[in-house]
Amino acid sequence: MPSTVIKNGTIVTADLTYTADVKIEGETITEIGTNLSGDTTLDATGCYVMPGGIDPHTHLEMPFMGTYSTDDFHSGTQAALAGGTTMVVDFAIQQPGQTLIEALQMWDNKSGRAHCDFSFHMAITGWDEQVFDDMKTVVQEKGINSFKHFMAYKGAMMVDDDEMYASFQRCAELGALPLVHAENGDVVAQMQAKLMAEGNDGPEGHAYSRPPEVEGEAVNRAIMLADMAGVPLYVVHTSCEQAHEAIRRARQKGMRVYGEPLIQHLVLDESEYFDKDWDHSARRVMSPPFRNKQHQDSLWAGLAAGSLQCVATDHCAFTTEQKRFGVGDFTKIPNGTGGLEDRLPLLWTHGVRTGRLTMNEFVAVTSTNSAKILNMYPKKGAVLAGADADLVVWDPEATKTISAKTQQSAIDYNVFEGMEVTGLPRFTLTRGHVAVEEGTMKSREGHGRFVKREPFQSVNRALSQWKELMHPRKVERTGIPASGV
Ligand code: URP
Ligand code: ZN
Ligand code: ZN
Ligand code: ZN
Repeated sequence: MPSTVIKNGTIVTADLTYTADVKIEGETITEIGTNLSGDTTLDATGCYVMPGGIDPHTHLEMPFMGTYSTDDFHSGTQAALAGGTTMVVDFAIQQPGQTLIEALQMWDNKSGRAHCDFSFHMAITGWDEQVFDDMKTVVQEKGINSFKHFMAYKGAMMVDDDEMYASFQRCAELGALPLVHAENGDVVAQMQAKLMAEGNDGPEGHAYSRPPEVEGEAVNRAIMLADMAGVPLYVVHTSCEQAHEAIRRARQKGMRVYGEPLIQHLVLDESEYFDKDWDHSARRVMSPPFRNKQHQDSLWAGLAAGSLQCVATDHCAFTTEQKRFGVGDFTKIPNGTGGLEDRLPLLWTHGVRTGRLTMNEFVAVTSTNSAKILNMYPKKGAVLAGADADLVVWDPEATKTISAKTQQSAIDYNVFEGMEVTGLPRFTLTRGHVAVEEGTMKSREGHGRFVKREPFQSVNRALSQWKELMHPRKVERTGIPASGV
């Protein structure tokens, strides 16, 4: 079996920083130590050797708002690798009339082109007996242990509280993790209609129709439902203080709630929607929208404090032409932005280089926490003997200016265009294969494999144990008064 040794680097994991060589045989890390040798040597002088990034939230070739997101498993996973991310978790979403199993088949077909490993969350967009039954197959046979619920997109993917509560209870039975897109979809729909009626039809209307309160309310509601059902909860694209506050408070009360800010919300703000150029603003339309500096500060603080756990991208990239479906009606602008290639460099630049995050926290929020929460640690998210050799050799001094001209993403712009970043991959390895070397792509289409994730992670077990202890029990009484007295 061919072997590779990464030499002269400093290993940085979620909890340790130390100097050692890393030996890889085939697809796996086999040894960590000093003076190791192998068939090939990768020089990591001046670099950090870290677990490759895991993006827990992407939408590759997703049918949405009358079109498909343009980056697919080919361009999307190439973008991931170029930026040091070695695994993506995408969302398999039922189309009207489809079963969960049929939706999964559709995603299996698309993902054959992946250049890096991937897994799926399954979306629950309605509720009936078939969905109830299929969830068991999805968890026990298909290796998927997380289910997403859209509390927004009324009339499309949105689920109501009764459907969501039923699904959360099913997740509790199956040892799965529910995820929520938390925005009050009824209020958003009314606000959209009102804004349009008042002539507010530009991209700024998107931001006005989805204020932080709408998100905060939905997060609180989802937390209550998860607590009633006795399941953990993962809140995707946590964008504001109201949502973060709800998560923080729940965690302080001992609830198992996780929050996921996006790199976009951490570094871009709401002023993007007030640009005079329609295309500029529309390209940045996503839900929830970008917020102001106070909300950004709250998200950064949450990452440092541990009340928010994972930085994702929600990569869902539409071309300018696709965005223009919404000229004259902001509600028709396809929602979504890209970020896969830029997540790690931007977080390093704005997080580690400013002192907002330590290097170890960087690894935790870009990789290890996702691997643990989604139950694939230490196969993924670790630099340990026995783990998959998904690694990034990170040059903390390498710089570039982000530009659509040089990106792997297939769209015609980049929402971070012109931003300078310091910190880039020297090498990105996916299961031992050097897919990126000093900015040159050497990745292989079809190399990526589906990662099965087992149910009943320890948090689910602990919660169901506690729920069982706290279950209402009839009080067996003595001294019952005689009837009729
Ligand atoms: O605007 C967004 N976030 N688009 C992708 C779909 C979703 O809501 O996650
Ligand atoms: Zn390809
Ligand atoms: Zn969403
Ligand atoms: Zn999403």
